[in-house]
Amino acid sequence: MLKGLFKKKDIAAMLREADSTNGGLKRSLTATNLVALGIGAIVGTGIFVLTGQAAAQYAGPALTISFIISALGCIFAGFCYAEFAAMIPVSGSVYSYSYATMGEFLAWFIGWDLILEYLFACSTVAVGWSGYMQSLLNGWGFDIPHQLARSTLDHVNGEWIWTGSIINFPAVCIVAVITILLLGGIRQSAWVNNVIVAIKVLVILLFIGFGLSYIDTGNWTPYIPENTGQFGQYGISGILRGAAVVFFAYLGFDALSTAAQETRRPQKDMPKGILISLIVCALLYVAVTAVLTGIVNYKELGVDAPIAVAIDRVGEGLAWMSPFIKLGAIAGISSVILVMMMGQSRIYYAISCDGLIPRLFSKINIKRGTPQNATIFAGIATGTIAGLLPLSALSELVSIGTLMAFAIVCISIMVLRRTHAHIPRPFKVPLVWVIPPLGAFFCILQMASLPSATWIRLIIWTLIGFVIYFSYGRRHSHLN
Ligand code: ALA
Repeated sequence: MLKGLFKKKDIAAMLREADSTNGGLKRSLTATNLVALGIGAIVGTGIFVLTGQAAAQYAGPALTISFIISALGCIFAGFCYAEFAAMIPVSGSVYSYSYATMGEFLAWFIGWDLILEYLFACSTVAVGWSGYMQSLLNGWGFDIPHQLARSTLDHVNGEWIWTGSIINFPAVCIVAVITILLLGGIRQSAWVNNVIVAIKVLVILLFIGFGLSYIDTGNWTPYIPENTGQFGQYGISGILRGAAVVFFAYLGFDALSTAAQETRRPQKDMPKGILISLIVCALLYVAVTAVLTGIVNYKELGVDAPIAVAIDRVGEGLAWMSPFIKLGAIAGISSVILVMMMGQSRIYYAISCDGLIPRLFSKINIKRGTPQNATIFAGIATGTIAGLLPLSALSELVSIGTLMAFAIVCISIMVLRRTHAHIPRPFKVPLVWVIPPLGAFFCILQMASLPSATWIRLIIWTLIGFVIYFSYGRRHSHLN
């Protein structure tokens, strides 16, 4: 019964295969592309929407500290991702690493978890994009009919209700546009991503640069508002809860590792791409939060577009910046969808190459060098979920799935140092008995703080995965 479940792929054979045909994928990404893809995947809904809400509800101006704590957890996991991506530079990220180190069954379990992360993250961000787009259109006097403006279902007080809307049309549209872009090839997608990243970073730097002179330091006092008596409402516990909430803002750097097989020099450039993009984003986030809470009192920041509110507060002085900020947010959120959709399709591709899901997902378009069917399927699945389900039901699932993947990566790095001590490691996590355990600890701690409903959804998702594996994957696995 258990025979074959723990069969492992041979790392040397995986590397040889990637070196010879590369599975038909094109190696065209440079280190600069990777840093841009990283920033493209990371900076989005988190900074443009969540910052204000987390400051208002949990941490006040001390949200800057929350961002630093959250960044530390991600950087620890980022080091581990970097070691893996440089050592086994193939498509499929943690899924492929686990196939080589822990065997097929655990690899499937993790691959299925990654599908959860990317599928639901893309959908969450597409719903966020729809909200920003509608607010921009409203400003120009154009309203989308309510049957097409929001999700079909909503989740209120533990119950699913029908909203009266047919579908969240803008969310479906952005997913369709990005799917078409991705079908055009990774070089074209990377180029569009570079332009978008330049716009969003410029917008954020403009806000920081011009906003600095409007800071009223009175808004920073007290820097850590006194706890109200309830866990998580200001004080030290508020800083911690704020960190768990803004964790979402750092998601995306891990999607980079799925592009290892399309990178020119993955051994050198993957670690650079992952770590530099994470550090740049952490610095931007801390600076934006400091300026934001300096211009507007944190109590007034619990809105959907906090940066726009800060600009309005300054008045005439920064009024010119308002349309740029909205446009920057829309562009910024688009690139998050782009990179996460790319990651999602590469996971389908990698799992299909191993036979655990139907072979058609690993078909490559020869001319463009892209996994065509996997990309189209990712588009249809993301569009459907984004069109039907509300943001609230989606985002917590993303966090629990991602935290689990990060924890597994941190643990696997230590296991591998023992079991595969002699594989060449172009990049090594420093202090391997300190950084990975700390990374795993931070992730498990945050998972534990999530509500039981989220855990139940994770368990249901996992059970569906088991059914697929035992009814299809196991029998079609190439290794078996
Ligand atoms: N980090 C991504 C965002 O904030 C998911 O939108």
